[in-house]
Amino acid sequence: MGNDVKNAEKKIIPITKPQFDESEEQAVIDVLRSGWVVQGPKVAEFEGLFAEFTGAKNAIAVSSCTTALQLALIAHSIGPGDKVLMPSLTYIATANAVEYVGATPVFVDIDPATLTIDPDDLRACLKANHTSDIKAIIPVSLFGLCSDMPAVNALAQEYNLIVIEDAACGMGAYRENHHAGTEASAAVFSLHPRKAITTGEGGMIITDDDDKADLMRKLRNHGASASDLERHLKEGGSLLPEFNLLGYNYRMTDIQGAIGVEQMKKAKNLFNARRKVAARYDEMLKGIKGIYSPFIPDGFISAYQSYVCYYKFDPQFKSARFDRNQIQVWNKERNQLMAGLESEGITVRQGTHAVHTLGYYRNKYNLTDFDFPFAFIADRLSITLPLYPGMPKDDQKRVVETLKSLL
Ligand SMILES: Cc1ncc(COP(=O)(O)O)c(C=O)c1O
Repeated sequence: MGNDVKNAEKKIIPITKPQFDESEEQAVIDVLRSGWVVQGPKVAEFEGLFAEFTGAKNAIAVSSCTTALQLALIAHSIGPGDKVLMPSLTYIATANAVEYVGATPVFVDIDPATLTIDPDDLRACLKANHTSDIKAIIPVSLFGLCSDMPAVNALAQEYNLIVIEDAACGMGAYRENHHAGTEASAAVFSLHPRKAITTGEGGMIITDDDDKADLMRKLRNHGASASDLERHLKEGGSLLPEFNLLGYNYRMTDIQGAIGVEQMKKAKNLFNARRKVAARYDEMLKGIKGIYSPFIPDGFISAYQSYVCYYKFDPQFKSARFDRNQIQVWNKERNQLMAGLESEGITVRQGTHAVHTLGYYRNKYNLTDFDFPFAFIADRLSITLPLYPGMPKDDQKRVVETLKSLL
């Protein structure tokens, strides 16, 4: 029997599943029938629900998290000649948005246990290289875990830096009782289908700063002084508004907004369901040699946007000297393990990438793999297991049993 036939017989376990039902279907139909499909009342309603959920004063919906980050940087006057610190372990978009505004990303290593920016490395980087062109820090709440924001904010204050959080994966994540993103000047979220709440594509910016919120609302809409809806509802709507800014078309459509509204109604339940599946993995993976489950520090609640384990590398031994050749050997084994899982119908992914190892950044800034060793190790030795709300226990058992047998 050929592999293709075998695979067709195996039930594929997906890495994630968007949580749509009749409510999203009906909401889309209603928008289509209303005749108003561009950014309008549904986007406004979605923004209101998002602000309420996170506890932020303003929420601004845009076309993606990447465009959200670009607008947040512009609104904080970050541009050519400026440097922005960020962890190397993040999706490439974090660094790309900084490049779009003409600024330079400066990478910092991660804490291998939490996979978020390492405050010690951040402090060391600022101490050794501080110059007045360093303007901001972008901590990343990766895989649904907040960064150590008190430590990041203390350094930001000491060095007079702006903090913009990349909370692409951070919806539903808390540090103490602070929702991800609410301890920064502004934060950006992704609504891509790999995230817990999705509108297909989409992004959201939150900020308590009303002036910056107003500016970002204009920037997403070509710099127009009034939105289409405001103009439509006002007398004199036949005249185009004033344009005093160089803006963009980064708007979200009302079709997406309507999906977002329905997703928000389920948000609490979806996050509880994700945490339940994650807790079951924690139990099932206990005692399996060679696999380290995600570490959640005291006082943090993970949203488990992804359930990311380490292969062979014990992330608690941060100060352990590691053998570079060993990392390469384990990386080959990790890749074989992921291929083995895939061939058994279990969809897995590496966690994310260490951006300093990607061609564009490596070449432009002359970087090498071990410049940020823990980001590199997390790139080479992480495995994301399938997780979505309501994932059947038997499927989780199959993932863990297959993992065991391949190990
Ligand atoms: C940390 C991080 N930042 C930014 C992004 C970009 O998000 P989007 O695809 O919505 O632009 C992602 C997407 O996965 C991400 O994980």
